[in-house]
Amino acid sequence: MNNQSENALTDLVISRIKSENPRNQEILTKLVKHLHAFIKDVEPSEAEWFQAVDFLTRTGQKCDDKRQEFILFSDVLGVSMLVDAINHRSKSAITETTVKGPFHAAAQRYEAGENIARGSEAERGEATVVHGRVLAPDGNPVANATLDVWQSDDIGYYDVQDVNQPSMNLRGIFTTNAKGEFWFRTIKPAAYPVPTDGPVGELLRASGRHAMRPAHIHFWIKADGYHDIITHLFVEGDEYLESDAVFGVKDSLIIPFVKNSTPDQAAQWKVTAPFYEAHYDFTLAQKSK
Ligand code: BEZ
Ligand code: FE
Repeated sequence: MNNQSENALTDLVISRIKSENPRNQEILTKLVKHLHAFIKDVEPSEAEWFQAVDFLTRTGQKCDDKRQEFILFSDVLGVSMLVDAINHRSKSAITETTVKGPFHAAAQRYEAGENIARGSEAERGEATVVHGRVLAPDGNPVANATLDVWQSDDIGYYDVQDVNQPSMNLRGIFTTNAKGEFWFRTIKPAAYPVPTDGPVGELLRASGRHAMRPAHIHFWIKADGYHDIITHLFVEGDEYLESDAVFGVKDSLIIPFVKNSTPDQAAQWKVTAPFYEAHYDFTLAQKSK
């Protein structure tokens, strides 16, 4: 096959796409166009092509109800954050979003101020109080917003990865009061590596990249009449903020976890000193009527 017939092949494949759905037509046409361009650029040997097929096969085989290796693949290639950026352009007053990640799971509802660290985690970790408000773009409070929160423990594991943690540890759902306020007790999260025991780990090693994510707490906030936001709050000063393995850090989401050693203030938040205090006000985008 000469150069001319290589190009003819791309055109021939595209000419066969006859979707009744215009968006499907566009996506499939561009998929073939860009995939063929990539192959022409890289000129893989047959052995390399079979290696790629084997990689994708094993990526699929690694997926189950607790593990989504394809999302991780998209995350480490920066594709998840590219989709996030495209879908959240120019809404300056609204809290920025970031990757959902693979560790969200069903959680129980809590009253304001309850502790999401269960059993030995609560005793082992560094006590932390997280508080703030959920607001509309005009600054008015959003009452009855739900905040679904989840995080790693003090050594970087989520409950779903770790048989030693009680189930639903370090995750929970809170509701804002009439002033839009929320607060909960937890422990300070730690930086952790994304799972590296599958094909995505091989990809990171082959790229000479580390697997670490900076310490963070996940939030999925929902309120009637507003668009959901899925985001994190990152711990200021973490050594991996500049090199997050999944490119999820945005400056506006980095906040201080302030150490507080005052017994009176600890008592007010129902913790013992010293503790960490993290504050953040989230702003949701209103749905158009
Ligand atoms: C997480 O933050 O939980 C996460 C996000 C992307 C990939 C792996 C983990
Ligand atoms: Fe996470």
